[in-house]
Amino acid sequence: MTQAQLVFDPLSADFARDPYAVYSAMRQLETPYYYEDVDSWMLTKMADVEAVASDRTMVRSLDDQLSDGARKAGQRKINWHDMPHHERFVQTNLLESEGATHHRLRTLVFREFTRAMIARQREAIQTFVDAKLDRLSDLRDFDFIEDFAAHVPGHIIGRLLGVPDEHCPQLRIWSESVVRFFDVGRGQDDKALAEQATKEFYLFLADLVTERRKSPQEDLLTQLMIHHDAGRLSEDELIATAMLILMAGHGSTIDVLGSGMHALLKFPDQHRKLRNDPNQITTAVQEMFRYEAPLPYFHRFATRDCVIGGQSFRAGTRFGLLYGAANRDPDQFENPDKFDITRTPNRHIAFGKGAHLCLGNHLAALDMDVIFSTLNRRFAKIELAAGEPDYKRGLSVRGPKSLRISVTPA
Ligand code: HEM
Repeated sequence: MTQAQLVFDPLSADFARDPYAVYSAMRQLETPYYYEDVDSWMLTKMADVEAVASDRTMVRSLDDQLSDGARKAGQRKINWHDMPHHERFVQTNLLESEGATHHRLRTLVFREFTRAMIARQREAIQTFVDAKLDRLSDLRDFDFIEDFAAHVPGHIIGRLLGVPDEHCPQLRIWSESVVRFFDVGRGQDDKALAEQATKEFYLFLADLVTERRKSPQEDLLTQLMIHHDAGRLSEDELIATAMLILMAGHGSTIDVLGSGMHALLKFPDQHRKLRNDPNQITTAVQEMFRYEAPLPYFHRFATRDCVIGGQSFRAGTRFGLLYGAANRDPDQFENPDKFDITRTPNRHIAFGKGAHLCLGNHLAALDMDVIFSTLNRRFAKIELAAGEPDYKRGLSVRGPKSLRISVTPA
């Protein structure tokens, strides 16, 4: 197949059903696939994706190397202009920064997200999951995502950061509105929604910071406020960091809870294996991240001429890092399309690699560990209740829109 023969339409129903067939065809091309819509070279092989993600000369943004005029022109090209709040708090944050600024911001919050610190949350997650399932105990059939999974990550991240529980449903709405605008094919309506959501989110967080100043708590927001008062980060950086943490792990964890549950239902032998040996949960969860990476696409810019996937590129080239595709690369994984809960080693890249490696990976894994362990203890049987689920359309997110299951208590 040649580049011209390959059909790549990330907004299509076919792609949502099975992006991996397209990724596989891309991987077999002689050189990376050029995706004109976003002026990017799409990388699908693990070796190429890893090489770019771990290369410090590959950056998420070229803004600090550009004149003001060139930066504004670049913003217009991707329709990220005229969005004052989005520009302040979403386009400028820990994830979008590099070098010394990135290091400073990441160091301020890193300690809270180490495996040991996150392990302290286990009991709180368990208590919340048990209470949520208690409330569903009369139902034999429910939407795993809307009725259950969607409530957990926001509550846990909110708790860590210091957002009162009653605001968690709103956090999800804001997060999803902002994340949708990262995807390809974004329209003017998505743009208005993303700007409005960012503004409301900002005002909400600014109020919360004011409250913390009056009465400090044992939470991350209070710590960020202390760092701010000590001159270690600006007011905008404080808000943008809190917003990023609340957003980055929200929809992604909900999506992989949905696709992870779907995988267990599609591969009943694997589900049985996990039930028979609950200690396999750690490798099972990592396999869920590999099998359906919920954030399958990020990008980098080259800051110098380079050779990637056997082809030379000039400085300024934009690469698409298809983490979801790399996770199915047969050169990296045996039987990559098989969902294998005991897969070891499992060097997947669902959380990225290098300087921007996901800060919340231990938290996401702990949420999943507690949830799937608890479901298998409480239910003797879990089955699909309404046929195969539809997956969301787009390139940047991956997960089922809904997932109706029927359950038989243990
Ligand atoms: C299944 C859930 C998650 C997935 C798949 C995921 C994936 C990722 C990926 C791939 C990146 C790197 C982006 C790049 O390479 O450009 C990233 C960065 C990040 N993630 Fe996650 N994430 C998840 C959950 C979380 C959670 C729960 C949090 C926080 C509570 C979080 C916070 C962050 C932050 C702050 C960054 C930016 C790190 C930096 O730039 O240094 N993520 N995530």
